[in-house]
Amino acid sequence: MDGNGRWAKRKGLPRAVGHQRGVEAVRKLVRSVGDMGIDCLTLYAFSSENWKRPEEEVDDLMNLMRKFIKSDLPEFVANNVRLKIIGDWQGLAPDIVAMLEDALEQTAGGTHTLAVALNYGAQQEIASAAAKAAASGEVTEESIAAHLYTADLPPLDLLIRTSGEVRLSNFLLWQAAYAEMAFVDTLWPDFAPEHLQQALDDFAQRERRYGGR
Ligand code: IPE
Ligand code: MG
Repeated sequence: MDGNGRWAKRKGLPRAVGHQRGVEAVRKLVRSVGDMGIDCLTLYAFSSENWKRPEEEVDDLMNLMRKFIKSDLPEFVANNVRLKIIGDWQGLAPDIVAMLEDALEQTAGGTHTLAVALNYGAQQEIASAAAKAAASGEVTEESIAAHLYTADLPPLDLLIRTSGEVRLSNFLLWQAAYAEMAFVDTLWPDFAPEHLQQALDDFAQRERRYGGR
C-alpha cells in the first residue's frame, strides 16, 4: 500500500491525511473482497523498516491502527472476516498487541482472511523460518515454508504494488516465487475496488507455467 505521502503532497495536505485516506481505501476494499471471490487479501501496513520514519509519522500510523481496529472490528465479525497478522507484531506497543489478540480471537471463525503485515520483513521471516527448520533437523523447501507466517494461508497468486514503484520492498519474498505481479501507478488512497477488479481481470488472462511449458 504505497503512495499515501505523495497523494497528500499533491493535494497540499499533511502526510497524516494521506494515511487517513489510505485507511479509508482499505475499508472499502475489505468490504468488497468477499464479492470478488478472494479467499485471502494480505495488506502490507507497516514494515520492519518503517521504524526509520520520523517518530511523529510512526505515531500517526500506530494511532491509525488503534482507531481502525476499534472502529472496524465489529464489521469484520459481522462479515465473516478472519483477521490474521503476519510479522513481528508482538513487538508493537503493548496496548496494540492486546487489541490485536482480542481481534484475532473475535474473528477466528471467519471464512475469508484479511492478513495484515505489521512490523513485517520477508528476509527476517525467511531467516527465522530457516532457523526453526534447522532446529527441527529438516531443512527443505517444505519445512521452511511450514515455519513462515503464511504457513496456513493459500499460495500467493497475485501481488499488487501501487504508486508506480517497481520493487518488492521486503514483502513476501519467499511466497512471491511464482506469484503474478501487478505494478500500478494509482496512489494507495485512490486504489478502489474497481482497481482491484481490473488487476484480477488482468490476472485471469495470464498463463501460469511455474517453470514448465
Ligand atoms: C504508505 O505510503 C505506506 C505506509 C507505510 C503506510 P507512503 O507513506 O510510503 O507514501 P509515499 O511513498 O511517501 O507516497
Ligand atoms: Mg512509500
